[in-house]
Amino acid sequence: MSNLNINAPSHVKNAKLIAWVAEMAALTKPDSIYWCDGSDEEYARLCQQLIDAGTFKKLNPAKRPNSFLACSDPTDVARVEDRTYICSEHKENAGPTNNWMAPSEMRATLQPLFDGCMKGRTMYVVPFSMGPLGSHISHIGIELTDSPYVAVNQKIMTRMGKAVYDVLGADGAFVPCMHTVGAPLAAGQPDVPWPCNTTKYIVHFPETREIWSYGSGYGGNALLGKKCFALRIASNMGRDQGWLAEHMLILGVTNPQGKKYHVAAAFPSACGKTNFSMLVPPAGFEGWKVTTIGDDIAWIKPHADGKMYAINPEAGYFGVAPGTNFHTNPNCMASLDKNVIFTNVALTDDGDVWWEGMEQDGGGLPAHLIDWQGKDWTPEIAKATGAKAAHPNSRFTVAAGNNPALDAEWDNPAGVAIDAFIFGGRRSTTVPLVTEARNWMEGVYMAATMGSETTAAAAGQMGVVRRDPFAMLPFCGYNMSDYFQHWLDMEHKLEEHGHTLPKIFCVNWFRKNEAGKFVWPGYGDNMRVLKWMIDRLEGKAQGVETMFGIAPLFDELTWTGLPFSMEQFDTVTSIDKASWTEEFKLHAAHFEQLSYHLPKELIETKATLEQRLKA
Ligand code: OXD
Ligand code: MN
Repeated sequence: MSNLNINAPSHVKNAKLIAWVAEMAALTKPDSIYWCDGSDEEYARLCQQLIDAGTFKKLNPAKRPNSFLACSDPTDVARVEDRTYICSEHKENAGPTNNWMAPSEMRATLQPLFDGCMKGRTMYVVPFSMGPLGSHISHIGIELTDSPYVAVNQKIMTRMGKAVYDVLGADGAFVPCMHTVGAPLAAGQPDVPWPCNTTKYIVHFPETREIWSYGSGYGGNALLGKKCFALRIASNMGRDQGWLAEHMLILGVTNPQGKKYHVAAAFPSACGKTNFSMLVPPAGFEGWKVTTIGDDIAWIKPHADGKMYAINPEAGYFGVAPGTNFHTNPNCMASLDKNVIFTNVALTDDGDVWWEGMEQDGGGLPAHLIDWQGKDWTPEIAKATGAKAAHPNSRFTVAAGNNPALDAEWDNPAGVAIDAFIFGGRRSTTVPLVTEARNWMEGVYMAATMGSETTAAAAGQMGVVRRDPFAMLPFCGYNMSDYFQHWLDMEHKLEEHGHTLPKIFCVNWFRKNEAGKFVWPGYGDNMRVLKWMIDRLEGKAQGVETMFGIAPLFDELTWTGLPFSMEQFDTVTSIDKASWTEEFKLHAAHFEQLSYHLPKELIETKATLEQRLKA
């Protein structure tokens, strides 16, 4: 844009925002600027534009009303952790788990990339609130993007639109989120359905609370409210302001007497968080209800009443499609029946969508599909080549309002009071089904050392444990050891208000037997573990002391409807001395890597646990 008339609408009064948009327009040089209002009319118009551009395919309205399929460039299919940077002034503040570059050097790197990067395109100004509009726990972001795909996804994933400007006012603060697909168009150059660039940078400047994203249009790389803002930038805000930004689902559990509890649970990516947040209790749990507040991220603030209140900063789910079916997550399947954006799943011959896992819903494998790369797919081709119809990281974007299990309080600006935290990794051995930390410190230790085994496909080496502390490895926006300290400090902050701390539980749904088969059925049966936790909160289950916290006795889990022997129970709960001796060596190596600023209490807790193991 040669002249800098950015045509801010009259309802935009924030001088800082107007100046920033003008500055970014001067840098990126879009052909035009469009200020999103978040209306349904606008959503429909932008979706039509995406159809016309070949980015969206409209799905059969008889099968999937008002829904679309986008297929990305095959090189742009996931978050790019190796291209993600925390550019703090000092390297130690990013810590050993983040990529780092000095801010001045990164700015010098980005400047030529962003110069003219939006030529031939429209810059969309996307105002959004992370959290209920006006909640004291919420924060505002403005994303500037040259991707209309991002704009329509943000309408679903966040509270996006004009009302944000009322909260922002003339001098309110916002997190500037600068995004480009990095594919300027020369005059007359035709566009492609999924523009992107082989060069990618996902950059955070924690001190100035800025996000700069270059080269990708996919997921967390591009929908900047999610991982970039709600976790990496917000974890910095939380540390400075005394609250927590966590990679946690939030659910409500109501018992048959009508008493309701709230649980926040952290699991690494692709460990079934969406499934757990929408859990349907199995037969035998009549009268119990599980409701969803959030499926991925929680912002949690201590309150003067001594409780910790949590909100879901997001307004929609950007969930992994493969594996989702009526057995693993019936509520999710019901959420997807209309008003959905699908990305990188397969297209059926009757204009609907399909992904691996759906064959378990009774229909078997479809005879023919168009796969996520636009190629013919048949069961024979799949058998011969191993080709997946849907990309393993293919997604659905859907509004929380579609979820039949949505919690009535999900949009409450006050949040919900958290009664328990759950931390769960993916381990085929060693870590038991469930234990309760004896105290806050032990809970922080469990979370700080949690890990996930890589699959053969992902890492080329089966069973390697990647430590993923608090499920925050790719998302903590500052030094991991300082983050552990922040969690430890929280105990004292809360105790100042003289209240009960949430209990902390450690779970592992993924133990295998000697034949390499999962022993715990998981999914809805996780309710059995959830109920035991509620029993512990209510003082109804005594449990038994183990080296790694308090475990349930066999008879304390409700087994109605599930034949599960004492032997099977032992396979998922046993604590093997030899495995744990090895495990503590791995904890030591993990702590060694994080030694700068590592709280000494973690080393002391390790020593105490090792003593317990020996005893
Ligand atoms: C996600 C993730 O997409 O954790 O939620 O990767
Ligand atoms: Mn996640």
